[in-house]
Amino acid sequence: MSIIKKLGTYAAAVSVAALMVAGAADAKNFKIAVGDSGGSSQEATGLGFKAALEELSGGNHTATLFLNGQLGSEQDTVNDAAIGTLDMSLLAINNITPFSPTVGVFTLPYVILSLEDAEKLTQGPIGQELTENTINDAGVRIIAWTYTGFRVLTNSKKPVKSVADLEGLVIRVPKNEIMIDTYKSWGISPTPMAWSETFAGLQTKVVDGQDNPYTTINAMKFYEVQKYVTNIRYIFSIEPLIISEQVFQELSAEDQAIILEAGKAATQASADFLREKEAEIKALLIEKGMEISDPENDEAEFIELATTAVWPKFYESIGGVEKLNAVLAEIGRDPVSQ
Ligand code: MLT
Repeated sequence: MSIIKKLGTYAAAVSVAALMVAGAADAKNFKIAVGDSGGSSQEATGLGFKAALEELSGGNHTATLFLNGQLGSEQDTVNDAAIGTLDMSLLAINNITPFSPTVGVFTLPYVILSLEDAEKLTQGPIGQELTENTINDAGVRIIAWTYTGFRVLTNSKKPVKSVADLEGLVIRVPKNEIMIDTYKSWGISPTPMAWSETFAGLQTKVVDGQDNPYTTINAMKFYEVQKYVTNIRYIFSIEPLIISEQVFQELSAEDQAIILEAGKAATQASADFLREKEAEIKALLIEKGMEISDPENDEAEFIELATTAVWPKFYESIGGVEKLNAVLAEIGRDPVSQ
């Protein structure tokens, strides 16, 4: 079944035939920077987008994925897209936060507790508001959401089961204040490092560990340089596909509609990939020699320290505590007091 047919409501929403005819002029090959390697959730989103774009435009438009940070670090690609020298980028939302702080609400530790939470938040009014914010703040438009799974901790030195076990480990984090402060709440000072430098950093032991979801750990072959995995699950990683707003505005209205619909198909492809592959990929990591463990007490210690210290510190940058409460309400959780 084609990716478009898999979108249940799609056929009612858009006249595919009309879009195909309207999109016939100005064939385009959109260049997409992808932070991760082949086999990743990001690639699943990118391929889903490409397939839908080709189908919706009747083969007129296509896209080329440049995997594994070939077009620069994830944060650099935001700048490149903002000035229109890059069409699109697939990157973790934590690497957009420095340019559009309100999206940080999706990076606050232990807010999103399931894939279903992530789908609800990104595909509803909150996702729409954050999309508008990134256009205004960063000059890029979110057109699809990748659901990559929970970020887990990996390291090359020792099993970690408690916050105390982190002592002595040098952990790489993205250049993201929320993530830096989260590790500080657990008593260590992490090392901010661009994603494109992370494998080398782990390999040369400049850093001992990092955190990312299973699908990313597998795609990036971190099992070659990391042994121990701890399911701290502190952030559900959301990794948008962004388009340069400048590039988007130069498209015809019909092509804009095609891009947005292809984005919806890409989002669905990403959710399907995670649901179908995550358990298999976890088993593969064990086969490759990784030791996976759960923190003691169901992460309670990690949760308590991170939410107490980190959430209030970022209320202002995410637009006020009411923004966090709107997110919590959307996913059926209790508000925090104002
Ligand atoms: C990061 O750790 O910087 C990102 O999560 C990497 C990614 O996009 O997978």
